[in-house]
Amino acid sequence: MTTTVDRSPAAPALPAAPATRTPAPARTLGLPELASLTRSLAQRPDLWRPLVRFDQGSRWWTRLEGPAGTDVWLLSWLTSQGTELHDHGPSAAAFTVVRGALTENRPSGGGSLTSRTFAAGRTQTVVPGAVHDVVNADAEPAVSIHAYSPPLLAMTYYALGAGGLTPTRTVLTDEPEQDA
Ligand SMILES: [Fe+2]
Repeated sequence: MTTTVDRSPAAPALPAAPATRTPAPARTLGLPELASLTRSLAQRPDLWRPLVRFDQGSRWWTRLEGPAGTDVWLLSWLTSQGTELHDHGPSAAAFTVVRGALTENRPSGGGSLTSRTFAAGRTQTVVPGAVHDVVNADAEPAVSIHAYSPPLLAMTYYALGAGGLTPTRTVLTDEPEQDA
């Protein structure tokens, strides 16, 4: 039996690890956690009601404090204010309506849309990559709380034709649910 002994010089010692390390990436919240987050914030009107504003010219929003790994926004919607068809890139999302009602439209094949209306207290979730639009189709103003995780980075907008969805543009963004 032959045994080979490595006589090569020992590798130089590695420098000591720095005392501080890069923080671990923030945890990503899933749909149930995002829904729980927007529901729990909805039940704390002291945190958001004094902030609400309405803008006749375009939808209004402001950021709310949320856990690491999320974007949380308070949005207001006057009648007919809404979004184009869009996705949220790799972000999952949830929203809870806290005043009025919002209608969500989702493509359902063949160039058509399926609509659902969410009254105050109702919550909807949106998986990453799902396409929808949201509009206040009601006569009364609406307010909603939205959460995204990972934080919103990019949104792709779509046109809907007889053949289905066609992407029209992708925008890098740190703002939610941009105007139609
Ligand atoms: Fe959206």
